[in-house]
Amino acid sequence: MGIKEKAKELAKVILEQDKVCIITHCDADGITGAAIAKKFLEEAGIKYELQVAKYLDLSFLDKNKFFWLIDLGNGAIEEIVRRKINCVITDHHYSNGYYELSLNPFNFGIDGETHVSASALVYLVAKEYYRNADLAIVGAIGDLQDLKYSKLVGINREILMESNIKVKKDIRIYGRDKPLFQMLAYATNPFIPGLFKKERNAIAFLKEIGVDYKKKWMECSKEEKRGILSAVIKRLLDCGFSYNYISRIFGEVYELDGNDVRKFSTLLNSMAKYGYGKEAIEACFNKNFQEKLLEIHKKRLKNYMEFAKRRLEEYNTFFFFHAESYISDTMLGTVAGMLLKEEDFPSPIIAFTENEKGIKVSARAPYSLANKGLNLSTAIKKIASKLGGEGGGHRCAAGAIIPKGKEKDFLRFFDAELKYQLTL
Ligand code: C5P
Repeated sequence: MGIKEKAKELAKVILEQDKVCIITHCDADGITGAAIAKKFLEEAGIKYELQVAKYLDLSFLDKNKFFWLIDLGNGAIEEIVRRKINCVITDHHYSNGYYELSLNPFNFGIDGETHVSASALVYLVAKEYYRNADLAIVGAIGDLQDLKYSKLVGINREILMESNIKVKKDIRIYGRDKPLFQMLAYATNPFIPGLFKKERNAIAFLKEIGVDYKKKWMECSKEEKRGILSAVIKRLLDCGFSYNYISRIFGEVYELDGNDVRKFSTLLNSMAKYGYGKEAIEACFNKNFQEKLLEIHKKRLKNYMEFAKRRLEEYNTFFFFHAESYISDTMLGTVAGMLLKEEDFPSPIIAFTENEKGIKVSARAPYSLANKGLNLSTAIKKIASKLGGEGGGHRCAAGAIIPKGKEKDFLRFFDAELKYQLTL
């Protein structure tokens, strides 16, 4: 059976229920997935409850209820099976575990990190009753599914073709609607050495190539765009960046109602991360995005980054920092990921912070290590369960909760696991 037939089978199971409890992950992918699921249930006349969660807390999974787990669940498949929890799972995180009512892309030989987001999986389930390809794609972009190939591929691409989203070939730096010097100074993927967070340098760079730095990318002529692109590429080449890295700068960009789709996913993400998950689900339809939150989000992120840099330490094969409880658990992974990119670390970063459950761990690694055999998801899951916690995620981005006081053990085990995976 293919993934699409399996999606239909899951839809049938859901349609047999009187009531469904949706539990979704608090990020753009989880939010858009839940928004599609909610409409599907409304269309089908099924009662539902909705919960937006930072992680899956198994103690919430009452045996007498029926759950629809979105963008979470794959990390706990063994426990879900063992406890005989009634649920369907639409999660794209790496897992080789099997559960009959899980639309786990990896069980179908599909890469859940690049070819299908959780929102896309929900779309496949909901399709017969409620089609909203636009939301599925906002989720996929929020999950950075287009990063590896500089475009959406696989099932994401098929859904893109069914959506109202316009595909354009353009510079893939975020902020095409901002003045050029800001767009270049705040580009993170790729970030431009010498210009990053240095608006004055970005202004000088643009003046040197004879382009008005206050102009927006969208307002530039073809010649101006060509001039900027070739100057940026030259700078990246001079700094020794690889062809693969540099080629990310140009590719597909996606627009919905004249806006970069990344704008929607970023807004939904920041709402969800600051505890406005249910409002974010509503915003998928009423477009009430609370843009103020994005400003707060940016300011906090800046403080968190400065703090993390001060705390960063080396540990044999990787880097780590402990944020005590200064960085919120929902932002820890974002900070670790940004640090990895900004500093262009060749090895993984482990980050700790305290939350109500114990110690939240976030791990991030450069993509290049996945090609060499790294799988953070399996490593973190294994170590966390050894220490009495739980975890999972993707090959290059994973997280866990471990008991307080186990951080040193975690670092020691992670060092050993890394050496084993990468045969160092
Ligand atoms: O929280 P963070 O962004 O670091 O999470 C990275 C990945 O790890 C996410 O995809 C998340 O679902 C997964 N994770 C997990 N178990 C946890 C925490 C995070 O599977 N306890």
